[in-house]
Amino acid sequence: MNKQLKASFPIFQNPINGQRLVYLDNAATTQKPKEVLEAILSYYKQDNANTYRGVYTLAAIATEAYEEARNKVQDFIHAENGEVVFTKGTTQGLNWVADRFLEKVLKAGDEILISPLEHHSNLLPWQQMAKKRGYLLKYLPMKADGKWSKEDVQAALSKKTKILAIAHVSNVLGSIQDLKELADVIHSNSGYLVVDGAQAVAHLPIDVKQMECDFYCFSGHKMYGPTGIGVLYGKRELLEEMEPAEYGGEMITSVSKYDAKWAELPLKWEAGTQNIAGAIGLGRAIDWIKEQDLSCIHSKEQQLISSALKGLQEIPSVTVYGPKTAKNRCGVISFNLEGVHPHDLATGLDQYGIAIRAGHHCAQPLMKELGITASARISFAVYNTEEDVQIFLQAIKELRKFFQ
Ligand code: ALA
Repeated sequence: MNKQLKASFPIFQNPINGQRLVYLDNAATTQKPKEVLEAILSYYKQDNANTYRGVYTLAAIATEAYEEARNKVQDFIHAENGEVVFTKGTTQGLNWVADRFLEKVLKAGDEILISPLEHHSNLLPWQQMAKKRGYLLKYLPMKADGKWSKEDVQAALSKKTKILAIAHVSNVLGSIQDLKELADVIHSNSGYLVVDGAQAVAHLPIDVKQMECDFYCFSGHKMYGPTGIGVLYGKRELLEEMEPAEYGGEMITSVSKYDAKWAELPLKWEAGTQNIAGAIGLGRAIDWIKEQDLSCIHSKEQQLISSALKGLQEIPSVTVYGPKTAKNRCGVISFNLEGVHPHDLATGLDQYGIAIRAGHHCAQPLMKELGITASARISFAVYNTEEDVQIFLQAIKELRKFFQ
């Protein structure tokens, strides 16, 4: 089944260094199925015009395609009209929330709570706003399995904690947070839940209403879509009360020399010409994910995680970080081979045609908590196969001998 799936991805037809590609860096970005590539090309070939601005047929077609893509996102995450804003990616959405939402709801001395495993995208915006505006940035205590319960969060709250910002799935440990449980705790403190969903959307069903997130940000390129397009979901009333992050064309209802009125949601948030092709590509990627069935994707990936985890745990001198079982993980496994720098390991694996990520994974505070400076990381997508896992494990065993 997965072998057939690989055939839908043109990149797997191109040998790298003369070898078939074993791509295990899907948490960094996924490969793109031909359907997504064709949707982007077809937009540029047949429908290219600027959205909202033209009164001619082609402009109407482009606008309709862009809004259709937004509807697909909206259905996919169970949002309501006006709650899906297109961004460049997760990072931009989180920065906008940290800037524009905090200025509305926080005053100096109020607290922002984050976990120690956050990607720099869900750390730096809070850290820098805290420095600039006198908020207090606080961390949940480290948990080896990378998962925090409502009791953990409750214990870290004070009356002044107004924001809990956390990754749905960790890009290093693969741990999964129970967002509904965390939302209940922060809401009962009159605070808000902001979620970095970058590592979750391609793997888990997302229902922002059921999970009661106030904001949920993600990127198209980690879910089989193109780079440069992402989504900021925000509850309607919150997006409405915030100042837009950028000013420019098509985000207004009227402009006078010294004043302006903003457009209705979501356009108030989309100043200037948008990444129209990117949105259309993302819409097609969502169709593609639905065609595969998200629950099938999840169970296939779980089998791969389980097999890779077991295989790694059997290799002497391998340390695996995070949850001990596949059940509590989503998508990724980070590990180290004693005495071998992860960059050397990744370079060694490259000789076998295997692509993995090595380094601090944009999570330096987490590396510190784990007592390391870097790790190797494999991460899966639906097109990976058991054969990929076995090729990878065999290569690790050979490299272990090589580096001894
Ligand atoms: N955030 C991406 C990763 O973890 C780039 O690799």
